[in-house]
Amino acid sequence: MGKPKALATRPLFPAAQLILDASFDMDYWMQPERMPREELLKRVADREALVCMLTDKVDEELLTAAPKLRVAATVSVGYDNIDVAACTRHKVAATNTPGVLDDTTADFAWTLLMAVARRLVEGDTWIRSGSWPGWELDQLAGTDVYGKTLGIAGFGRIGRRMARRALGFQMRVIYSGRTRAPIEVEQELRAEFVEMDRLLRDADFVTLHVPLLPETRHLICKDTLGKMKRSAFLINTSRGPVVDEAALAEALENKQIAGAALDVYEFEPKVHPALLGRKNVVLAPHIGSASLETRTKMAVMAAENAATLFQGRRPPNALNAGALGL
Ligand code: DGY
Repeated sequence: MGKPKALATRPLFPAAQLILDASFDMDYWMQPERMPREELLKRVADREALVCMLTDKVDEELLTAAPKLRVAATVSVGYDNIDVAACTRHKVAATNTPGVLDDTTADFAWTLLMAVARRLVEGDTWIRSGSWPGWELDQLAGTDVYGKTLGIAGFGRIGRRMARRALGFQMRVIYSGRTRAPIEVEQELRAEFVEMDRLLRDADFVTLHVPLLPETRHLICKDTLGKMKRSAFLINTSRGPVVDEAALAEALENKQIAGAALDVYEFEPKVHPALLGRKNVVLAPHIGSASLETRTKMAVMAAENAATLFQGRRPPNALNAGALGL
């Protein structure tokens, strides 16, 4: 019997491809541009495994087009691109890549926080323009980070890594979330559980680490932005639709908050035009987990998730393992 057939919607790192090539008869999308949807629907038709990106939607339409599919492995921790309930209906295991990107993403959220507070991008742009006149006393005076209050919305793995880093900046850390963290975690990270309203009122930096769910869509909106300090900054490395981008643009225009640093966008890859011209906004192209080490680990994890099922074992990161009885 030949190997099961699998599709990867882009080439992966060699370490991940080794795993896939050993387990599957592979089809990799090799073109530089993203795999078009029609092509994906066509190529997945006879496949038993799919390794996909967060930009590929695994929904009812795809699952219907792929009757042999048994596993859909996204190379991302966020899995809002996968309709897990539909996967369960079609008896397809859906997997993601939790855990391996927490530190890298927290590092990057801090990069954004520091960059916007200390006006790094403005300074870089100024120097490159050739018009920087040299040091002056009040030039690009930003905001101190150390000793301030960090408000972490969503205190899962990445939120907690944010808190750990804040210890070194002698910050007060407050967090909100669906549930309160165990007391040992709060003590170790010197983090205080507060209601979201209080977090918005007290934080000098509000950083978002929630998954995209119906209840977190537009968590940051006109109303919540109105509760933040005028001197506060918003940092988003979670998912774009957690922030109502039009409301954010308006809040910045009205000086309701001091600035924002974003890695993700409501209508990715589009960015609200009003944000593009603002100096007090730092914009990154969804690279929170983009270190070579971490992206390799994510790809390897996705490959292992896919391969494991065909070795008769439960994929380590199956989101619907229970529902499928794996
Ligand atoms: C994820 O994994 O969900 C990030 O958005 C990309 O690494």
